[in-house]
Amino acid sequence: MKAAVIEQQGGVENIVYRDWDDPEPRPGEVRVSVGACGLNHLDIFVRRGMPGFPVPMPFISGGDIAGTIDALGDGVAGWSVGDRVTMNPQTDHGMIGEELIGGLAELVCVPAINLVALPDNVSMETAAAIPINYGTAHRMLFERGRLAAEEIMLVLGASGGVGLASVQFGKMAGATVIAAAGTQEKCDRLSELGADHVINYAEEDFSRAAWMMSGKKGCDVIVNFTGGDTWVPSFRAARPGGRVLTCGATAGHDPQTDLRFLWVRELDILGSNSYSQEDVAKSVAYAASGDIAPVVSHTFPLEKLGEAETLMEERGFFGKIVMTP
Ligand SMILES: NC(=O)c1ccc[n+]([C@@H]2O[C@H](COP(=O)([O-])OP(=O)(O)OC[C@H]3O[C@@H](n4cnc5c(N)ncnc54)[C@H](OP(=O)(O)O)[C@@H]3O)[C@@H](O)[C@H]2O)c1
Repeated sequence: MKAAVIEQQGGVENIVYRDWDDPEPRPGEVRVSVGACGLNHLDIFVRRGMPGFPVPMPFISGGDIAGTIDALGDGVAGWSVGDRVTMNPQTDHGMIGEELIGGLAELVCVPAINLVALPDNVSMETAAAIPINYGTAHRMLFERGRLAAEEIMLVLGASGGVGLASVQFGKMAGATVIAAAGTQEKCDRLSELGADHVINYAEEDFSRAAWMMSGKKGCDVIVNFTGGDTWVPSFRAARPGGRVLTCGATAGHDPQTDLRFLWVRELDILGSNSYSQEDVAKSVAYAASGDIAPVVSHTFPLEKLGEAETLMEERGFFGKIVMTP
């Protein structure tokens, strides 16, 4: 098969589109012919290298996979060759695309228990925008964050994968959503997609703007997976008793903090990691019913993975970038 292979960790020049042995499904696994594979910021971290998370090289990343079943391993029941599927990339043996060989390739083998049937009205490209972003947002907002209707939620990085998923789930739950992003164009798209208020944080102080938009009461819930210098300002945008949710740190994992906000406002900081099979399956069902509408701004052929990852690093996309083999 052909695959976009990371030969060694570093820059995009280390990604080589080349031949790779066809994987054979082991007992309990299926082989999927990849129709589309969505990019996540994780793919960049895997390629650059993450302190404390060694990845064996050469490696194929990509955890957001949609395709059709191409072969069945021994003992697989309930699935047939030709079935349209997507999947939960978190397996019992590690994460597909981070610890196990991923889907930025023509073929990938995955445990059958991780599969989610793909309804006919959800395209491969749309499906490749769902599992990680919507699964993560679903767990973070509802399981960890207990987001309720009528609450005011601020989402930073709202134009990206987890961000847009948070905006859409927030609206689905009946919350008032303040979506913050880095350009006016992204803010306009977020308004079109239903955000109640938007903030271009390249132009204005988002904590002050969100405070004003909340009627000077502060936001009930803040979604902050950016970290870095957005960390303390996001406390400032919270109401007394508010919840700050985090699942990542795109701009830096060791930000300065200001403990005064934590006790004076009695804030809760809630970490959220990963997602369950149910988070992914529910997200696919919401896409099929139209309750959420994943947005794919760019589709690239697999041999252009380096170009696509550069676009992600430069923040030149909206929602999701999807690769097709
Ligand atoms: N714990 C988990 O299970 C889990 C699961 C999924 C993702 N994550 C984490 O969540 C974060 C978001 O992931 P994602 O895949 O949604 O990323 P993404 O699609 O690249 O979106 C991130 C967004 O954050 C904004 N941003 C602000 N500062 C940035 C910076 N310095 N560099 C890049 N983007 C910046 C960008 O929007 P603007 O240009 O509009 O500012 C960008 O669109 C990552 O840190 C990822 O590792 C964690």
